[in-house]
Amino acid sequence: MNVELRSTWWIRDVEIPTRLVLAPMAGVSVQAFRRQGRRYGAGLVCSEMVSCAGIEHRNERTLGYLRVASDEHPLAIQLFGCEPAPMVEAARMVEAAGADIVDLNFGCPVRKVTRTGAGATLLEDPNRAARLVDAVAQAVELPVSVKLRRGVKNGSRACLELGPRLVEAGAASLALHPRSAEQMYTGTADHALTGELVSLVDVPVVASGDIVSRARAQTVLATTGAAAVMVGRGAQGNPWVLREIVEGGDCEPTREEVAAELVLFIRESVRELGERRASGFLKKFYGWYLGQGRFPKAFKQELLRLDSPEEVERRLFAAAPGAIELVEQLEAEIPSGDEVTLELPISVYGGG
Ligand SMILES: Cc1cc2nc3c(=O)[nH]c(=O)nc-3n(C[C@H](O)[C@H](O)[C@H](O)COP(=O)(O)O)c2cc1C
Repeated sequence: MNVELRSTWWIRDVEIPTRLVLAPMAGVSVQAFRRQGRRYGAGLVCSEMVSCAGIEHRNERTLGYLRVASDEHPLAIQLFGCEPAPMVEAARMVEAAGADIVDLNFGCPVRKVTRTGAGATLLEDPNRAARLVDAVAQAVELPVSVKLRRGVKNGSRACLELGPRLVEAGAASLALHPRSAEQMYTGTADHALTGELVSLVDVPVVASGDIVSRARAQTVLATTGAAAVMVGRGAQGNPWVLREIVEGGDCEPTREEVAAELVLFIRESVRELGERRASGFLKKFYGWYLGQGRFPKAFKQELLRLDSPEEVERRLFAAAPGAIELVEQLEAEIPSGDEVTLELPISVYGGG
């Protein structure tokens, strides 16, 4: 039976209007990405992981500081760390900033994170993992969710033992990316494991991994009993896939729509990160937006050679003049002046 993707579900008392969650992605899930995700049908958006340790040792290698705005809700902010005290402090900041959910990253496979005892390392340290969840759940009123991988080693089923323990410790929801940390992004996400996890816990489970179409989303929801699906790489430069997943139909954008979304994304990223950082950050998005046969390859190469985001914007408008009016319309819908900036640094590395 098909699950209605537009139906409401809840993480404790947080109402989530669709069954689609936008995945946290380090180096991608900036505010512009999250806001766009909400506009295209994500019921819940999540910040990329932010470092709890970063609060103490102000680390230079940060992309910027996390911001929260009114049109992002419901919003989860993801933390990574391995010590209860800084995690509790960070969770209190997240709560004070008005986020709806505190999410903990127990899945990041990147060495810089795992060697500190954070991320995927916690999959093999269930006592510490449960202590972290317990400490945060006791410290804040917000629901605490946890994002996991299946385990560290290939074939591991650690998540099935850990998941119920985390729920006992106070987790109000679990998201599972059923690849091992060792796998990184190779192979496929084994959602049979997601189904097993669902049967073991009485909180909503979110299925993450390889969801790139409405058909796949429906199959995973129907076969696992998950409350929602999470979309990550599929939404990079492609918010239209979110609409297709939630609403169905053919959502392939026109060139003008692609150019307009990219220009808006550029402007918002510059505002959020500053021009210098945004210039480098944005380059990968040019390929993501303009690929897929939407613009000729040579055009993409040309944009990559331009020095500033303004030049890229001018070139996009020259190639698709109809985008100018679309950007004005989109900008008029963005609320202004209601943002809160958190003293939480966005890491330059990550994954999950
Ligand atoms: C570039 C990139 C960065 C990621 N960063 C994070 C992160 O900060 N926190 C996290 O929990 N997962 C992170 N992930 C994992 C995704 O949230 C998601 O679980 C994974 O990509 C599988 O879903 P997909 O097949 O839809 O991309 C990241 C993935 C990618 C590709």
